[in-house]
Amino acid sequence: MGQQELKVLKGVSLDIHKNEYVSLMGPSGSGKSTLMNILGCLDSPTAGLYILNNQDVSKMHDNALAEVRNQEIGFVFQQFNLLPRLTALENVALPLIYAGIPKKCVMKKQWKCSKK
Ligand SMILES: Nc1ncnc2c1ncn2[C@@H]1O[C@H](COP(=O)(O)OP(=O)(O)O)[C@@H](O)[C@H]1O
Ligand SMILES: [Mg+2]
Repeated sequence: MGQQELKVLKGVSLDIHKNEYVSLMGPSGSGKSTLMNILGCLDSPTAGLYILNNQDVSKMHDNALAEVRNQEIGFVFQQFNLLPRLTALENVALPLIYAGIPKKCVMKKQWKCSKK
């Protein structure tokens, strides 16, 4: 906040295992959104370690984080954030196209058909 540094998420430590369902709860201002932004690789922590699927993502910058988001993360937003000019199938398929799978393969649901 301008010159003022605000410390959020002091001493937070947790492990989340495969297939675990976890909810974050806390009063307004306790840092839930900050933690979600870090967990979702939208933001990086100023200190500490975040290992996602055996990969240290704590010090990655924008492009590398975008790659990790594409490969590892799925977001479900309160608003659907659908693109109105695309069909429902195209909306769902969009991350696969960003991942380099040709559109014709995506639309035929052939995930393994020649990447790039
Ligand atoms: N962009 C920002 N600039 C300055 N302070 C922020 C910013 N975002 C959040 N904060 C502060 O960080 C703390 C944690 O906020 P946040 O992660 O949004 O909490 P929650 O989602 O649990 O309500 C709060 O004190 C909030 O005011
Ligand atoms: Mg919040």
